[in-house]
Amino acid sequence: MSDPPPLGTIVQGDLLEVLPTWPEGCVDLVFADPPFNIGYEYDKYQDDLEHDEYVDWTERWIYECLRVLAPDGTFWIAIGDEYAAEVRMMMRENRWATLRNWVIWHYTFGQNCKAKFNRGHAHLFYFVKDPHAFTFNGDAVRVPSDRQLKYNDKRANPKGKLPDDVWTISRVCGTFKERVGWHPCQMPVKLLTRIILACSRPGDVVLDPFAGSGTTLVAAARHGRRWVGTELSEQYASLATRRIEEDMGLLPDAPANPVPERVQTLDQMPSG
Ligand SMILES: C[S@@+](CC[C@H](N)C(=O)[O-])C[C@H]1O[C@@H](n2cnc3c(N)ncnc32)[C@H](O)[C@@H]1O
Repeated sequence: MSDPPPLGTIVQGDLLEVLPTWPEGCVDLVFADPPFNIGYEYDKYQDDLEHDEYVDWTERWIYECLRVLAPDGTFWIAIGDEYAAEVRMMMRENRWATLRNWVIWHYTFGQNCKAKFNRGHAHLFYFVKDPHAFTFNGDAVRVPSDRQLKYNDKRANPKGKLPDDVWTISRVCGTFKERVGWHPCQMPVKLLTRIILACSRPGDVVLDPFAGSGTTLVAAARHGRRWVGTELSEQYASLATRRIEEDMGLLPDAPANPVPERVQTLDQMPSG
């Protein structure tokens, strides 16, 4: 007997204990940004497993995410260079889902290196369970094309073009005003907004199994999606919940309206 996911909450706990209590096919979109196993400092999670242990763990949690994903659902995973190849091969060998795009997130303000090129990207794999049945709202994420912007070409689609598969979107650096300050790797809302608008419909259920600072769920709530998260850390789960409530204007001292940032988001998206 399984319980439905508690929508509108971040469940504090290990996703491998929480997700198995939910029924099959109960979410429409999963965005997963796991620890990359590169020694990041989280408050609870130890980001330094042996190679095989990390791969085995990755396989187990991806399996669980896909189990709770609807048959026409979409699965995104963010991963670093260290394990991108392993994740790609695991998905292919298990025949779990079909890759639609291998997106490179080019984040400006990459980490400075002393004796090699600075790293300025992460991998975003976009999978669907069924290659013939999935949600893709291209019109919701169109960006101005060079034909429109640079060449004033009359053949340009006035609605813009679909973004390329290299997304140049700034990291949320330590000094940025939107930085929450209590989580080491907060993703930009802009990136999650594109994914949520393109790959889900209003009312769909969005799951972030590694909720962290709550970015995915903020973007989902802003756009009328139902949402649910899991997060190992008590502190992150509670502060992220507060962040979402504040963003939605649900707290007494919250800023009334986050709309300006939301409205700017897509117009200002670079064309890649
Ligand atoms: C890379 S961060 C996610 C950041 C998030 N995308 C954001 O924008 O804030 C990974 C998160 O996964 C959490 N985590 C690690 N192991 C977990 C597990 N077994 N179950 C649930 N959450 C876990 C960590 O505490 C951390 O907050």
